[in-house]
Amino acid sequence: MTKNTTFLNDVSEGLSQNPKYLSSHYFYDKAGDELFQQIMAMPEYYLTNSELEIFRQQSEAIIESFGITKDEEFDLIELGAGDGKKTQHLLKTLIEKGFKFKYMPVDISKNTLSVITGRMENLFPDLEIEARQGDYFEVLDDLLTSDLPKVILFIGSNLGNMDDQTASDFLEKIAFHLKSGEKLLLGLDLIKSEDIVLPAYNDAAGITSAFNLNLLKRINNEMGANFDLESFEHAPEYTEEEGIAKSFLKSKVDQTVFIADLNQSFKFKKDERIHTEISRKYNDQILNSLLSADANLEITEQFLDSQQYFADYILTKK
Ligand SMILES: C[S@@+](CC[C@H](N)C(=O)[O-])C[C@H]1O[C@@H](n2cnc3c(N)ncnc32)[C@H](O)[C@@H]1O
Repeated sequence: MTKNTTFLNDVSEGLSQNPKYLSSHYFYDKAGDELFQQIMAMPEYYLTNSELEIFRQQSEAIIESFGITKDEEFDLIELGAGDGKKTQHLLKTLIEKGFKFKYMPVDISKNTLSVITGRMENLFPDLEIEARQGDYFEVLDDLLTSDLPKVILFIGSNLGNMDDQTASDFLEKIAFHLKSGEKLLLGLDLIKSEDIVLPAYNDAAGITSAFNLNLLKRINNEMGANFDLESFEHAPEYTEEEGIAKSFLKSKVDQTVFIADLNQSFKFKKDERIHTEISRKYNDQILNSLLSADANLEITEQFLDSQQYFADYILTKK
């Protein structure tokens, strides 16, 4: 099945449910990639700066926690690599310290992957890079076949975009490919109050809103749909008790949308919502609850930013 057919089927399936939903997976076309870059640069989006501070200030300690020696070659595999602005600090320190490694970024977006490859080639001309385009749920099995020691990076709280069961299964799947003692560096946004979290998903400049609405624009462009972007609005939610930021697209009026490639119409009532994204926030207890017995992973270290907004966890295979 081609990617487009999958996208069509997922849209048909999601908009036929009650409540309606669309997978956040589809945010990242070229426009979505660019909007996400802008989101990461917004003052309200504390996640980037918090994790960037950890990578800037604690790269040496993070590398020590990998337990890799300078005379052994290893693979550094990054899932959902994005633009690599944080990872570049880790790579720089690894190179300065004389570690021998290959950097393997994986991303679903071809565009993002060419940006990150260009950036790293530019910064580190001698770095060996093997980029892989694809869905990390799908490429993991044939990506992790080398016998070299490996460290896997999964940062930016990307895990938070999965529901807890999917996150737990995904961690188990990653762990399946780790040998005893090998590490996963997992960057997670921590549970904190609404006044800090909610603005990160509802910025004053309206970039998150444009990012969310871009999903409808993408369906218009790629499937001949007639979503009127003016008659939907971005509607985020978060409570500290639940610890999950949720994004919705809310219909401002009763309306019917036609998707030509599906030859199907979808009715929306006024205030009806399409659920588009979750961003879970974590603490040690929640993370531990996601580590199944079969995963055989344990938290061995944790690096925090100075405001304690964000944590980069080192998980070690037992
Ligand atoms: C929220 S961004 C974070 C990027 C980076 N990890 C960071 O912390 O800056 C998510 C990235 O993961 C990629 N992505 C999302 N879902 C993916 C999937 N299922 N497989 C591979 N990459 C994915 C997106 O294209 C995007 O570059």
